[in-house]
Amino acid sequence: MKRTITLTVNGTTYTRDVEPRTLLVHFLREELALTGTHIGCDTSQCGACTVLLNGNSIKSCTAFAVQADGGEITTIEGLAEDGKLHPLQEGFWEEHGLQCGYCTPGMILSSEQLLQRNPDPSEEEIRKGIEGNLCRCTGYQNIVKAVQHAAKNSTAKA
Ligand code: FES
Ligand code: FES
Repeated sequence: MKRTITLTVNGTTYTRDVEPRTLLVHFLREELALTGTHIGCDTSQCGACTVLLNGNSIKSCTAFAVQADGGEITTIEGLAEDGKLHPLQEGFWEEHGLQCGYCTPGMILSSEQLLQRNPDPSEEEIRKGIEGNLCRCTGYQNIVKAVQHAAKNSTAKA
């Protein structure tokens, strides 16, 4: 039997009827057409599906949509403001922090949580902050640089 849930995604509130078994990532991609959240493994390994739920990064392939009922979600589509890239998006652009880009939305959301909690992380802290996100292309070096770039720019703006 379907359940009615209400949740806010990137500042917009949605009410929908969902099957209790619907995964949050499927809800975001198929019900709300927010396809920036990727599915890489479906087994909680890769982090491609990472979003923020009430400010905490979660793997949306291992949460049910009903568990997010009443919550606030941020996906990659919610980071840019007024057509201006978020500092992390700028950082990934400037430092070539991606190749195929499949891991990038999840990397950015995990990095966003990291920078919210620790605005000036060391390289080690950055690597720890994204340890739940796998990248098959970059070797991680430019991802670390991208996060450092964002940390520097965010601090400069503060
Ligand atoms: Fe969720 Fe890989 S798709 S962790
Ligand atoms: Fe291809 Fe990370 S850029 S998986």
